[in-house]
Amino acid sequence: MRYCFFMIRLKGLTKRYAGLEAVADADLTINDGCIFGIIGRSGAGKSTLLRMMSLLERPDSGELYYGGERVDTLKGTALLMRRRQMGMIFQNFNLFSSRNVTGNIAYPLEIAGFSRKEIDSRVEELLYMVQISDKAASRLRELSGGQKQRVAIARALAPRPRVLFCDEATSALDPQTTRSILSLIRDLQSQLRITVILVTHQMEVIRSICQDVAVMDGGRIVETGTVASVFDDPKTDAAKNLVKG
Ligand SMILES: Nc1ncnc2c1ncn2[C@@H]1O[C@H](COP(=O)(O)OP(=O)(O)O)[C@@H](O)[C@H]1O
Ligand SMILES: [Mg+2]
Repeated sequence: MRYCFFMIRLKGLTKRYAGLEAVADADLTINDGCIFGIIGRSGAGKSTLLRMMSLLERPDSGELYYGGERVDTLKGTALLMRRRQMGMIFQNFNLFSSRNVTGNIAYPLEIAGFSRKEIDSRVEELLYMVQISDKAASRLRELSGGQKQRVAIARALAPRPRVLFCDEATSALDPQTTRSILSLIRDLQSQLRITVILVTHQMEVIRSICQDVAVMDGGRIVETGTVASVFDDPKTDAAKNLVKG
């Protein structure tokens, strides 16, 4: 098998919490540079799977590969370097309310030890990319939900990650704002040639920007395929229920 530079491969990934299998035996291959969706009801195991894929949590068993390299066993600096290739955004934005917009976006660059000058120019570039240059000095409480998610996207992209993980990133937003954030994510993905892995319980989100999708149910990946094939001809009850809405 030939490995793309940043193909993500999961082999039998399993995570238990107090005996409960939150994710069980997950096998999945995600190609470099695509927008991949993971859909399932609440409690299906989506966030747990994402945390393992982004190296925030270690699996109890199974293997995770980026390109050809096994990464779930990494430690210390090697783990930190790999984590720096992952950006993540969440439903609740997870921003620092004590910092203004610029301070939030600058944070990961400060941690990574960039100079003030490098940080300032990178933040300016990121503000432009997510189209909130006019909000550079704003406090978070002055922003709408959509603007906060733009700040979170800029912060996630600041260290130039290879992969952007989105965990229910539009679930707290109204339909119009959801569309604008999805269109931003799609534009950034093609501009930056990153991989986007998008977890949601919302069908419309998957349908509007993903190429391929995995369906999760009860901790298991029960179906995978192109969005068209899974949604037009769902094989499992879990997928059928999601498609019916
Ligand atoms: N840190 C945790 N401790 C204990 N149980 C957890 C933890 N995280 C998730 N779970 C459980 O694992 C299952 C899957 O959760 P989660 O991955 O958050 O699902 P989803 O994101 O699809 O809603 C749920 O039953 C949840 O209660
Ligand atoms: Mg979740």
